[in-house]
Amino acid sequence: MRELLLIGASGLAREVLSVLRGNDDPHVVYVVDDQAELAGTALDGVLIVGGLSQVAYHPTADLLVCVGSGAARADLVARLADLGVTPDRYTTLIHPAVGVPDSCHVGAGSILLSGVVLTTDVQLGEHVVVMPNVTLTHGNRVGSFATLCAGVAVGGDVHVGRGAYIGMNASIREGTLIGAAAVIGMGAAVLVDVAPHETWVGVPAQRMPAAAQLSRAGADFRGRRG
Ligand SMILES: CC(C)(COP(=O)(O)OP(=O)(O)OC[C@H]1O[C@@H](n2cnc3c(N)ncnc32)[C@H](O)[C@@H]1OP(=O)(O)O)[C@@H](O)C(=O)NCCC(=O)NCCS
Repeated sequence: MRELLLIGASGLAREVLSVLRGNDDPHVVYVVDDQAELAGTALDGVLIVGGLSQVAYHPTADLLVCVGSGAARADLVARLADLGVTPDRYTTLIHPAVGVPDSCHVGAGSILLSGVVLTTDVQLGEHVVVMPNVTLTHGNRVGSFATLCAGVAVGGDVHVGRGAYIGMNASIREGTLIGAAAVIGMGAAVLVDVAPHETWVGVPAQRMPAAAQLSRAGADFRGRRG
């Protein structure tokens, strides 16, 4: 029977497991996590087999990186590549009730949870995470390793850069560009383009003061393992 390794003993991995179980997925599933103290324990009943090096013992398993931070996902994918993992090993997880029209594309390693809507001509890169009830519309382009949190609404022809993070219930005006690795705070209404690596919050969204942005540079701003 085919194996699936979820990389990261995270909240996102728990959500993925819930989708798999609801869909009677046939994979034999294991979790991989580098926290040594987790080896041999279980995440929602699924064995955590050990750290990333365990991937070598499952050479034909499908893989899914289940970490909420896009930067952390990119780091894990780079480390897995160093271990010889090729891009074709990554599967996608799409909630069974989510429709993907022929005009849309979901890249390898991406995760789409329940209630996500793709209207038409939506192109998602690799290892994109789209949380519940996100609405993506005509002409959207979402770069690899981007994260769209629950309830995000994206107007037509918006482009979201690689590794960008859009917080819960944010709305993005049609035709705007969200730069690579930009962060949009929860509840924001974005009306104009956002430059790469900037953080914008509020209604209408405005750039967060540089001091606040610097204070959390390099940190996982969510303060926990998503
Ligand atoms: C924008 C965000 C990344 C900032 O996080 P942070 O760097 O830890 O910022 P802080 O909480 O220290 O707040 C800094 C300031 O920004 C304000 N602020 C933070 N988030 C805000 C938001 N979403 N909207 C408006 N203002 C916000 C705070 O009130 C604070 O203002 P002050 O300096 O006047 O007191 C974060 O608040 C956010 O919205 N994250 C998304 C969370 C999310 O969607 N999680 C989904 C989990 S699945």
